[in-house]
Amino acid sequence: RIHPVLLSGGAGVRLWPMSREQYPKQLLPLCSDRSMLQDTALRTAGGEEFAAPLVICNQEHRFIIAEQLRQIGIADAKIVLEPFGRNTAAAAALAALIVAESDPGGLLLLLPADHVIRDEPAFRDAIACAARVAAAGYLTTFGIVPTAPETGYGYIRHGAPIPGHDGAHAVAAFVEKPPRAVAETYLAEGSYFWNSGMFMLPAALFLSELERYEPAVLAACRAALAASRTDMDFVRPDADAFGAAPSISIDYAVMERTGRAAVVPCSIGWTDVGAWSALWEIGAKDEAGNVCQGDTIAWESQGCYARSEGTALVALLGMTDTVVVATEDAILVAAKDRAQDIKPMVERLKKDG
Ligand code: GDD
Ligand code: MG
Repeated sequence: RIHPVLLSGGAGVRLWPMSREQYPKQLLPLCSDRSMLQDTALRTAGGEEFAAPLVICNQEHRFIIAEQLRQIGIADAKIVLEPFGRNTAAAAALAALIVAESDPGGLLLLLPADHVIRDEPAFRDAIACAARVAAAGYLTTFGIVPTAPETGYGYIRHGAPIPGHDGAHAVAAFVEKPPRAVAETYLAEGSYFWNSGMFMLPAALFLSELERYEPAVLAACRAALAASRTDMDFVRPDADAFGAAPSISIDYAVMERTGRAAVVPCSIGWTDVGAWSALWEIGAKDEAGNVCQGDTIAWESQGCYARSEGTALVALLGMTDTVVVATEDAILVAAKDRAQDIKPMVERLKKDG
């Protein structure tokens, strides 16, 4: 069976002032009237190929997440509470250990809880294909055709086709977050995909590859689960043991190193909702290319993103490519092409209290 694993560890700093530590972006209704976590959970709910979801999240968010799952009628999720983040290799290891115990042949479908996927039927097809490829013994990635030399993504060079699996290829090379110049050559070459950050992994194969390349992550997660406590639907790995896990992403820990990776190319309307510019890209635009959400107006303006979450009316006049986001206690005004650079500013605000 396929075990959906929802990764909800990020803080979403680049979506300040809406995204806050106590209420990060994946728990907000940013892209629909549900939160991205809810949309992610619903994408794999219902089908009989799917087992109940596992959510791996920070312990601070346990009640919000439990409540959000309840709202969408998911009552059987297991919620694993990290005392602190140790990056995605450790989060995936916790999930793989839990799944392998109850379903030794099980497949993990790792799903970041902060992605938008607009073509759900195409996504279901890609999942079915990836499950077949994974069951044949591959750590399977979902490849997206790149449209820009993004430096925040992993790049996958595809190798030989995998016989009998339409469209799937072995991975010839996996390069996590290459520098800009390198990303540009990949784009020009044309044999690369972006790594979507979703994975279909045979739990047992993932654990043996992790053992081989990052044994300290596996050992720490194993020890943390052996000493874990369970209350209600929550599993609490032991903090001291978990703290011994090196903080490394699954991409660097396993995907760049393994010889057992495959890629299923897919066209699913995928977006990683990282910054306000991404919300502008996926938003409904007026004839001048403005996205206005909430009580907002963009007058004689072009290419703007305006959003009001508080009680304030937000009005833009004569603005171009500007982001304005108003909440109850903070207003962001930013150049849209600087939306990726918000992090140092927010960190400074935090420091200054
Ligand atoms: N539970 C848990 N614990 N989740 C985590 C942790 C953690 O410590 N760290 C990150 N996550 C979650 C994030 O919330 C996100 O949903 C997902 O795991 C991926 O982490 P990111 O930090 O967003 O990774 P990234 O965007 O830099 O890179 C990954 O995604 C790209 C596509 O969006 C990589 O897989 C890239 O190769 C990929 O291109
Ligand atoms: Mg991300």
